Amino acid sequence: MKIKSIKNIKNLAGKRVLLRCDFNVPVKNGRILDDYKIIKGLETIEYLLKKKSKVIIVSHLGRPDTAKKDAKYSLLPVAKFLKEKIKKQVNFVNDISGFQAGTAVSRMKNSEIVFLENIRFEKGEKKNSAILARHLAKLADIYVNDAFAVSHRAHASVSAIKKYLPSYAGLLLEKEILHLEKALKPKQPLILIIGGVKLATKIPLITKFRKKAHRILLGGALANNFFTAHGYEIGRSLVDKESVKFAKKLIKKGWDKNIILPIDLRVSNKKSFWDAHNKKLNEIGKRDYILDIGYGTVDFYKKYIKSAATVVWNGPMGMLEEQKFKYGTLALARSLAINSEKSVFSIVGGGETIEALKMTKTINDINWVSTGGGAMLAFLSGEKMPGIKGLVSGLHSSFCHLARA
Ligand code: 3PG
Repeated sequence: MKIKSIKNIKNLAGKRVLLRCDFNVPVKNGRILDDYKIIKGLETIEYLLKKKSKVIIVSHLGRPDTAKKDAKYSLLPVAKFLKEKIKKQVNFVNDISGFQAGTAVSRMKNSEIVFLENIRFEKGEKKNSAILARHLAKLADIYVNDAFAVSHRAHASVSAIKKYLPSYAGLLLEKEILHLEKALKPKQPLILIIGGVKLATKIPLITKFRKKAHRILLGGALANNFFTAHGYEIGRSLVDKESVKFAKKLIKKGWDKNIILPIDLRVSNKKSFWDAHNKKLNEIGKRDYILDIGYGTVDFYKKYIKSAATVVWNGPMGMLEEQKFKYGTLALARSLAINSEKSVFSIVGGGETIEALKMTKTINDINWVSTGGGAMLAFLSGEKMPGIKGLVSGLHSSFCHLARA
C-alpha cells in the first residue's frame, strides 16, 4: 500500500497548506468537553510548522443550518484551545472563502496559522461544490487531508478540493489507514465486538466481517433485534422493525453462525432505571428494560478477548450514562486493555466506546483508538471514502476503487 504522505513533500518552506482537520468536538459554553480529536491532530500541525509552511486550518463543527451563521457552531473556542496547546499565535478568521480569509492568508509569514470559521457555514460544503473547492484552492499551494473522521463524506473540503490542489495525507490520516488496514488483513482469530443502539449503522460491518471474523460479539440495544428475531421476550427494551427484519434475514440465510449474543442481561423494570437485576435471556419479563450485558456474558466475552489475536470494537454494551448499567462496557474495556499489553492487537472506535476507555483510564493501552466513528465503520465495511480517494493506492483488494484519482 502506498500513501501520498506529507512526509514525501520535499520543500514545504513558505508553502501555503490548506489543512483539513476534523475538530468536530463537543463544545459547551465555549469549553471543549472532549479534546481527543484535537490532540490527535497536533502532530501534523506541528510538523508543518516545523517545516516552515503557512498552515490554513479548515474544519467543521456539528451540523449547522447553512442559512445562518450560528455562534453555537463557531470554531473560535477550538482555535483558542489550539493556541493554548501549541503555545503559538492562531489567527482565527470569521470567514471561510471570502475577502477576510484571503487577506489573512496573504499576510501570513512562514510557520504561522490561520484558522478558518466552520466550513459547514458554506452551502457548497455538503454539496461537494466545485465552486467552493476552487475558492478554497485559491488560498493555498497544497492540500492536506488529516480529517479521517469525515473522510467518508463527499464534501467540498474533503473531496472536490483534491481536483484543484496537489493533495496529500496528513500524519493522522496515514496512521488511521495503516492501523485500520490491519483489521482488514487481520491476524486470526479476529474478534469483532459491536454494540450501541442502531443496528442499521452496523449492518455493512456485520455483513463484511461475517466470514472474516472468528466471532462477532454483540451487545447494547442492537442485540435486542436479534433476540426478537429468535423469538425471545425483550419486554420494553429498544427495538426497531427494520433491524429485526435484517436479523431474521441473516438467521434464515445461516449467516449468523459467527454471531454471539449475550446469554444474560442487566435489566430494570422501572422507567427511571433505578433498580437493576441480572437475568438470563429466557427470564426477561414483559416490563423489563434491557440496559446492559449481564455478568455471565461479561465473563464469556472476556474469554473471547483473551483468546484473540485481533480485536475490533465499536459501540457500548449498555447504557454508559447510567451508573448501574455501565459495568459491561467498562469491564470489556479493562479486559481489552490488559490483553492488548500481552497478545492482542486492539482497535477501538466510536464516541461512547472511547468514553469508556477514558472512564477506565485504558485509552493508552489500546493499540489504535480511531478518531472516526462513522468513518471507521465505513472504512472497515469497504464503503467509499471520498476523502481518501487518490491519496492511497494498493489498499486491501475491496478498496481498490479508492486508489483511482
Ligand atoms: C464525526 O464526528 O463522526 C465526524 O466529524 C463526522 O461528522 P458528521 O457525521 O456530522 O459528518
